[in-house]
Formats: sequence, C-alpha cells, structure tokens
Amino acid sequence: MTHILVTGGAGFIGSHVTSALLAAGHDVSVLDCAHPAAHREPPEVPDGVPLHRADVRDRAAVRDALRGVDAVVHQAALVGLGASPEDLPEYVGCNDLGTAVLLAAMSEAGIGRLVLASSMVVYGEGSYECDRHGPVRPEPRAAGDLDAGRFEPSCPDCGAALAAGLVTENAPMDPRSVYAATKVAQEHLAAIWARERGAAVAALRYHNVYGPGMPRDTPYSGVAAIFRSSLEGGRAPQVYEDGGQRRDFVHVSDVAAANVAALSVEAGYRAYNVASGRPTTIGEMAGLLADAFGGPGPVVTGRFRLGDVRHVVASPARAGAELGFVAATAPAEGLREFACAPLRG
Ligand code: UD1
Repeated sequence: MTHILVTGGAGFIGSHVTSALLAAGHDVSVLDCAHPAAHREPPEVPDGVPLHRADVRDRAAVRDALRGVDAVVHQAALVGLGASPEDLPEYVGCNDLGTAVLLAAMSEAGIGRLVLASSMVVYGEGSYECDRHGPVRPEPRAAGDLDAGRFEPSCPDCGAALAAGLVTENAPMDPRSVYAATKVAQEHLAAIWARERGAAVAALRYHNVYGPGMPRDTPYSGVAAIFRSSLEGGRAPQVYEDGGQRRDFVHVSDVAAANVAALSVEAGYRAYNVASGRPTTIGEMAGLLADAFGGPGPVVTGRFRLGDVRHVVASPARAGAELGFVAATAPAEGLREFACAPLRG
C-alpha cells in the first residue's frame, strides 16, 4: 500500500481522484486551500483522510503534508479562461509557483513520483490537415472572420478549408490563454524535475471533464456546467458560434481512474491525453443535456469568444497502450446522467 498526497483533493476532480485512490487501496491525504474560485462551502474529504487546509505555495505546509508520503497527485490549480488580465498573478502564482514549491519540497523529502493534472489547452487548436499542405497549424482566428460567421480555421499557407483530426501527445504546445500557458509551464517544470531527479512524472492532459459535483456556473466554469446551470434556472443553453465546434467530454470517474493508473508510470516524464475517444459537437452536447433535463432547448447564438479554439479532440491511444486506461463512460450516457446530477454550491 502506498500513501498518496492529493493536492486540490477537496475540489471537483480532486475529490473523485481521492475516492478512486481509496477504493484502489491507497492511503490518502489531501492538501487543499479551498480557493474561493472553486469553493463556496467549506471543503470536505472522506472520513479518515487527513486534510491539510493550506495553499500549495505555502512551503511549510507542503513540507508538513508530504511527511510519510510516497507519491503526489497534483490537482490543485486555478482553472478556466480567467475573467480579466488582473487574474494573471493569481494564475501564475497558484499554478506555476505552486508547482515549483511542491517539486522542491518533494525533492527535499525524497519523493520521486508525481501525477500532474494538465489539460488539452496546452495544444491550442487541435490537429488539422490541408489537402495541399498536409498537417498545418492554423493561426488564432481573427475577430473579423468570427464576426462574419467564418468559424472554421483555414490553411495558413493557402487559406483552404481544413479537415480536423485527432491530436496526439506529440503535437507541439501552443497555449492560447493565461491558464493554458500556466499548464505548459507546469509540464515543463515537472519534466525538468523528472530528468534532474530521476523521478517519474505522468502529465494527464484532461479534455472537457464533467460529472457529479461539478461547480455551478462561475466565470471559471467549463461549458458543461454553464449549460447545466442554465437548464436548472429554466434558461436555454446559449451555444456559441454555430455549435459545430468539437470537444471530447470525459466523465470525472474516468479521469479519476486515469490518475490511479498513472501512478504506475516508469521513471521519466510522459504526457497522456485523457479523453473519452468519442468527440461531440457543442451543439449536439447542448441538445443532449437539454433533452435529458426536459428543456428548454438550446439556442445557437452565433456569438463567440475570441480566445476559444474551434476543434480540439484527442487520441487517447497512448493512455490505452501504456496505462491500460480506457474511458468507461460514453459521453451520450454520461451527459444524460449529468443533466440531473447534483452540482456543487
Ligand atoms: C475547457 C476549460 C479548460 C479546460 C478544458 C479541458 C474553461 C473556461 N475551459 O476548455 O479550462 O482545461 O476544458 O478540460 O473552463 N461555449 C458555448 N456556450 C457557453 C460557454 C461555452 O457554446 O455558454 C462553447 C465555447 O465557445 C467553446 C466550447 O463551448 O467552443 C467549450 O468551452 P469551454 O468549456 O469554456 O472551454 P474549452 O476550450 O473547451
């Protein structure tokens, strides 16, 4: 049996990870500061799990929480697109300084195993192919194109329409938001740490996570929570663009299972897409949630957010081959259940 510290273990994903680790027979401790962006209620952890209520930037608290620990599952982070540039220091502080403090304390304590919660946002736009130019990386979409309803990115060389494909872990990083940049930095810091310390790091690039206990609609919420909160309030989900943008919605219980599996990663640094492998469009997903909830039906608004990417869907093949991870919940079933599942206050 191993003793695992879960940072952010009282949050939405972290609490599912904590339960899955306990179910797999591990001892678990939690470090969580109950950041106001994620917690309106006091944090809760299962009976018998020690809770260190502290910020991951607090060196003394992190050192204390690492006593007797064999491995760390690092979920603590500020997520989402961010409300304004004033959020920058808090994002970089929580996500990057926090990771740096954790890695330093792990070295000091002789702990050489880390599972890091990363995100598909490290890729920016997903994978695209042009008939004439092969695989290409489109530029961020221009406001003028979006205003005119031209939502699909085009070939940077010839302007032709592109075919969207599955992104693999070898795709270059291309962060397009502050949050994304902090996730890239976390991965880089952890990779360098793994090399210097001979440690083992698995970076799990989560796709769009949803499931019971997801926080209600906040400026930091992902689209599943936003639509779910709208339905609960009797409002129609507002679908941006034309609803044809593609994502991969992965159930939080599958994300938790991936974390448990990732503890087995060999020494060195390795990144894994954590996705259902069954992409859907935002329009389809809104329709599915609304149907399962009993309406109102979604409205396709044509509005857009400049920072959004169009399609990002992944191949989960590497996690399948190396970690034995395959998502158990198909989005069609999981989203139907999520339509009526409890959200976090
Ligand atoms: C989301 C998360 C990101 C996380 C990633 C992977 C946010 C803001 N983004 O990125 O932090 O790392 O999943 O888990 O939490 N949309 C609507 N109507 C709305 C809101 C959004 O149609 O009311 C559309 C957006 O335009 C976008 C899609 O839904 O096309 C997904 O949006 P969102 O969940 O916010 O961001 P992701 O880029 O998928």
